[in-house]
Amino acid sequence: MSYKIPADKIAQVRETTDIVALISNYLTLKKSGKGYVGLCPFHTDSAPSFHVNPNNQLYYCFGCQKGGNVFNFLMEMEKMSFTEAVEFLAEKAGISLPKTKVDDRLEKEKEALYFVNRWAANLFYKNLISPHGKDALQYVQGRGINQEMIKTFGLGYSLNEWDGLIKQAQKDSVSQQVLFKSGLIIKKNGGGYYDRFRGRFMIPIVDLYKKVLGFGGRKLVDDDSPKYINSPETPIYQKGRILFGLYQSREAIKQQDQAIFVEGYTDLISLFQAGIKNVVATSGTALTPAQAKLIKRFTENVTLLYDADTSGSLAAMRGADIFLDAGLEVKIVTLPPGHDPDSYVRERGVDYFKQTLSRAKSIIQFKIDTLSKKLDTTSTQGKTQLVNATLESIVRIKDNIKQNLALKEVAEHFGLDERALLGQIHHIKNNGQYRAFTPEKIDSKKELHKVRQKSKYDIAEEDLVRLVLEDSGWLSLLMKHLELEDISDPEIRSLFSMMFNLAQSNEKVTRQMIFNEIIDPQVSALVAQLVTTRYGESLDRTKLIEDCLVLLKRRRLEIILSNLENEIKIAQDKELDASDYTRKYLVCKAEIKRIASKDFLRESVSDE
Ligand code: CTP
Ligand code: MN
Repeated sequence: MSYKIPADKIAQVRETTDIVALISNYLTLKKSGKGYVGLCPFHTDSAPSFHVNPNNQLYYCFGCQKGGNVFNFLMEMEKMSFTEAVEFLAEKAGISLPKTKVDDRLEKEKEALYFVNRWAANLFYKNLISPHGKDALQYVQGRGINQEMIKTFGLGYSLNEWDGLIKQAQKDSVSQQVLFKSGLIIKKNGGGYYDRFRGRFMIPIVDLYKKVLGFGGRKLVDDDSPKYINSPETPIYQKGRILFGLYQSREAIKQQDQAIFVEGYTDLISLFQAGIKNVVATSGTALTPAQAKLIKRFTENVTLLYDADTSGSLAAMRGADIFLDAGLEVKIVTLPPGHDPDSYVRERGVDYFKQTLSRAKSIIQFKIDTLSKKLDTTSTQGKTQLVNATLESIVRIKDNIKQNLALKEVAEHFGLDERALLGQIHHIKNNGQYRAFTPEKIDSKKELHKVRQKSKYDIAEEDLVRLVLEDSGWLSLLMKHLELEDISDPEIRSLFSMMFNLAQSNEKVTRQMIFNEIIDPQVSALVAQLVTTRYGESLDRTKLIEDCLVLLKRRRLEIILSNLENEIKIAQDKELDASDYTRKYLVCKAEIKRIASKDFLRESVSDE
C-alpha cells in the first residue's frame, strides 16, 4: 500500500480494538489476575504461557517471547503486513482511513475490476453446470476433477460464442468499459467488442481475500489455438505477484510448514484433490522475488516440482536461486520424463507420489546431478563449470551453518579442499559476480539482536524504559540527564524521543498516552516484552535509575576517550602537535570521573 496512514488514526484503531476479543477468535483465554492467559498460538505450548493484558492492550508469551499489540498479533497470526493489519481492524471498527485522491481513484477502479471478475466467475461457474456446459463438464470429469474441486476452485466454462459474455453483461447492466479493462472482452478493429474466452474451461485466479483477479482458460478440443489463454495484466492482476491456489492452500502450507511449487493450474488442482494440499502454482511463468516474498509469509520451506525436461530443470535452478536469495530453504523434485504432477499423481497414486516428494534433492545435489549429464566432468573445464554453478547457489544461502554444510557437500563430492571453495565464495561476493534476485534488504540489526547476548548496557537501556513505564514521573529526571545519543538501541532511542516529546507538551504523561503514541510494531513488541517483568517493591528505584544513567553516559564518554587516545597516538607518531587532543582528553577524563561519582545528579537537581 502506497499511502501512509496517519498516526492518530492508527492509535484510534488500536484503542478501539478490544485485544481480548480479537485474540479470543484464535484461542481460548481464561481470566487470570488482571489479565487473561491461554495456550500460545505461536509455539507448541503445554502450559498456558500466553498472556493478554487488557489494560495496556498488549500480549506476551513467556514461552516463545513473542508479544505486542493488536497489530503485531495479526501480523504474526495472519501474516498481514502492518498496513494490512491496520486496515483490517479499521474496517472492523468502522473507522474510515483517509486516502489521497489518486489512491481513491485507483481504489475505485480496482473495486470495479474485482466486481466484474467476480460477476464473470459466477457466470462461468453457472455455465459449467448448465446444459450449455455439457461438453466442458465431460472434459473436466474426464480429467478426473471432481465436484468438490469445481466448487473449491470455482471452475467454470465460457460459452463458445463471440458475445456470450457481452450479451449477459447487457442484461446484468455490467459496464462494457470495465469489462474491457479487465481483459474479459477485446476491442474489434472495426469497433465493438468480442469475448476473449470462448468455449474454454475457466479457472479463476483469486487472491488471499478471495477476490477474483483474472482467469486462465483452457481449450477443450485439440485444435491449433493456444492451450491456455490468460487474462492480461491489469491494475489488479500482476502475474509475477500472485501464486495460483494460495488462497485454498494457505492453511495446509502453514500447518505443514512447507509449500510445493508446481507449474500448472491442473497440476495444483489434481494434487489438491489427491490430498496434497500444500501446493501453489506459478502458472507457467518464471518465479519472481515477489512470489518468494509472498510464500515466505506462510513458510520458509519450499519444494520445487518441475518437469524433467531441460526447460523444466533450468527453471528449477533459477527458481531455487531466487528462493535462496529470499532466505528460504529449497528442495527440488523432478518427475520422470513425460510426466507432470497431474499425470503422475493420477497414474501412480498419492502414496507413491509422497514417496517421490520425500526424495527431494538439495539444490546442490540437483545441480550436480543435472549438470553432470550436460557437462564433461572428466575435463578440468567441465568440472570447474560445474563447481562454479553450485557455488552460485551456495553464495546465496543466508544461514552460515547451512552454507558451510553445502560447501562440505560440494567439497566431498569433487574431492576438493573446503577452504579453497570458501575462498572462491568470497571471491564471487567481492567481485560483484553475485547479484541477489531480491531487492529486499535483510534487517541485519534484527538478526543480530536475536542471537546476541544482552550486554549490561542493553539491560540498562531496557531498565530505563521499564522504570518509566512503571512510573512516568521519572521522565523529568531523565530529560535532564539522559541524551538520546546515550542510547544505542534504535527502538529504545525512538521510544525515549517520543516520551520526551510527550513530556514537553503535557503536564502529566500517563502510561496510556505512551502506548497510544507507539506506531512502530517493533517498538510495541519490545514494550510488550518489557512490561511483563516487574521490579519488586523493595527495589531502590532511584539507585537503579542513577546506575543506569551512569553506565550509559560513561559508555559514550569512554568511546570518545578511546578515539581521542588514538588521535593522540597518531599525532605523536607523526610528530605533530597533539595538545588540542590532549586537552580534550583531559576534559573527557574529568567528565567520566564526575559521572562515575554521580555528582552530576546532585548538581543539576540542586539547580531547581
Ligand atoms: N500456460 C499458459 N499458456 C500456454 C501454456 C501454458 O499460460 N499456452 C501456463 C498455464 O498456467 C499452465 C502452465 O503454463 O497451467 C503449465 O503449462 P503446461 O504444463 O503446458 O500445462 P498443464 O498445466 O499441464 O495443463 P494441461 O494438463 O491442461 O495440459
Ligand atoms: Mn498437465
